Amino acid sequence: MIKPVPTIKLLSMSFILSISISCSDNQAPSVRDFEQKASLQIKLLATSLKKQLIASMQLGGPVAAIETCKIKAPEITNHLNSSDTLKIKRTSLRLRNPNNSADDWEQQVLTNFEQQFSSGTPIQELVYSEKITKGDQTTLRMMRAIPMQAVCLTCHGDRQTMSEGVIHSLQKDYPNDLATEFSIGDIRGAFSVSQTFSN
Ligand code: HEC
Repeated sequence: MIKPVPTIKLLSMSFILSISISCSDNQAPSVRDFEQKASLQIKLLATSLKKQLIASMQLGGPVAAIETCKIKAPEITNHLNSSDTLKIKRTSLRLRNPNNSADDWEQQVLTNFEQQFSSGTPIQELVYSEKITKGDQTTLRMMRAIPMQAVCLTCHGDRQTMSEGVIHSLQKDYPNDLATEFSIGDIRGAFSVSQTFSN
């Protein structure tokens, strides 16, 4: 005769099963899988920001585009972050917006990027990722350097050649701006992506 399984046992079994299923769902992927996902997210943010920038420069000129950058860049970034546990941001060693400040890990990676860059590594190769386990949490992190391009000079270039309107507008919105005096090809900053998992 088959002995009926007590309900409580069934319940605890399904509980254990559901925990293990949700755990395996949330387990940290390999660094390589994370890098692939992070790279796609970086591409998405980079393309959206550039599209927005060019459109608003063409429509209203650089001063209007500053306003767009100020409002739209954080908005687009927050929008991408709201639908995913993967978080993306932009940061730099020479900041314009203090909300984009680098944490200790990001500062270290940016400093290493600068060192590698000055010893000849092409900027496109400046990518770094790491898996960091602390207590019961694993965080996967990746950074990719952002190169200065010609279009960026309008607002991040040599102050001598920047328009009065742009300088005035930046001064008003970002009184502690450190993000000028860059040249084409310099490291303007980096995209930084992270995702945290419970072990
Ligand atoms: C019309 C002016 C303008 C142009 C052109 C421009 N930026 Fe910016 N940039 C801004 C403003 C304003 C901010 C601060 C707002 C924000 O994005 O958080 C900013 C912030 C940034 C940041 C975030 C780090 C920080 O310092 O706060 C990066 C990285 C950046 N810009 C890179 C670029 C690159 C690369 C280009 C060229 C493809 C570019 N920018 C072109 C105005 C501009």
